[in-house]
Amino acid sequence: MTRFTRRYRFAAAHRLHSEKLTAAENAELFGKCNNPYGHGHDYLLEVSVCGDVDPSTGRVISPAQLDEYVKARIVDQFDHRNMNTEVPALAGRIPTTEVAAETIEDLLISDWPKDWSARLDKIRIYETKNNIFETTHEAR
Ligand code: NI
Repeated sequence: MTRFTRRYRFAAAHRLHSEKLTAAENAELFGKCNNPYGHGHDYLLEVSVCGDVDPSTGRVISPAQLDEYVKARIVDQFDHRNMNTEVPALAGRIPTTEVAAETIEDLLISDWPKDWSARLDKIRIYETKNNIFETTHEAR
């Protein structure tokens, strides 16, 4: 079994805010991330797939096909968007990067081409140098 990881980049804005909490509770919980006008990140997304090397191609997956798939389903939906208001898959949710990571995983899994022998293994999102979020498919 071999794991292949490909990197993608997108920029997006968010404001961390819960409608269920008071202004003071939101400020306490989310700090400066609760700023009413939001803030942005240059996200680095790593998509890892796992599978056997196909003897006819010598590859686990076609990077070009994976690029096309991730671009259409993720990058085009998230890049230069406000995640509170402009990303349908996040509607009604608090767009923390934890939630974005789970949502991105769900979006990738839900349409995963049946003729790909490689499966989605995990995704990792670097929000800042110090904040890194990772989902593993088996764990959910
Ligand atoms: Ni943030």
